[in-house]
Amino acid sequence: MKRGGSDEAKRRAGESAAEQVEDGMIVGLGTGSTAAHAIDKLGQQVDAGLDIQGIPTSFQARANAREAGIPLTTLDEATPDIAIDGADQFADGNLIKGGGAAHAREKIVDSAADRLLVVVDPTKEAETLEHPVPIELLPAARQPVTDALEAAGGEPTLRAAAHKDGPVVTDNGNLVVDCDFGTIDVPAELATTLSQIPGVVEHGLFVGLAAEIHVGTANGVRVVTP
Ligand code: A5P
Repeated sequence: MKRGGSDEAKRRAGESAAEQVEDGMIVGLGTGSTAAHAIDKLGQQVDAGLDIQGIPTSFQARANAREAGIPLTTLDEATPDIAIDGADQFADGNLIKGGGAAHAREKIVDSAADRLLVVVDPTKEAETLEHPVPIELLPAARQPVTDALEAAGGEPTLRAAAHKDGPVVTDNGNLVVDCDFGTIDVPAELATTLSQIPGVVEHGLFVGLAAEIHVGTANGVRVVTP
């Protein structure tokens, strides 16, 4: 999926995180245009002899990893030592994810990893989170979840598909709403509220999960350690 930000900055961020991967590691493979650069770099390292196994976070991450020649495994077989994943926005070490509708599996893999390295370009940095929060929900729960999100102060919009009539359908067969809460002053509080709504499969607030944020810039990489 094509998104904003300089591709060169994204590549620097992705490669910087990939360089932390060592022989024998199990690696969570994130979704999106920045994580794809990390996957490409890992593929080059595998070609050069690096012995790793990847656990993809989506259909697309799996396709990218196969193309790059990275051997794959699953959470049934192994636990990730490290995960490398993108973000739609970050502030104070917390993230909003789900621009590619992959945040449910991303959160499972990223949380299971010992360390999550986030890869972004500078357009993702904010003082306070305020990007609409992607929320994956069961199709049968659309109306009650919409009502609950509005009661929680949000403005939910069902995500429309780009090349299909009707809504986006996730890798898990569910729907996504993007819910605008304005400025999110206490992300942990909102995360708890969202998790408690019946029918919500997963939301895109990743609170306290990032170990490092690699920000690719025009001429280097800045590593933020929350
Ligand atoms: C996928 O659902 C997302 O969480 C992505 O990781 C996020 O949207 C970042 O993608 P880009 O690196 O393409 O901006």
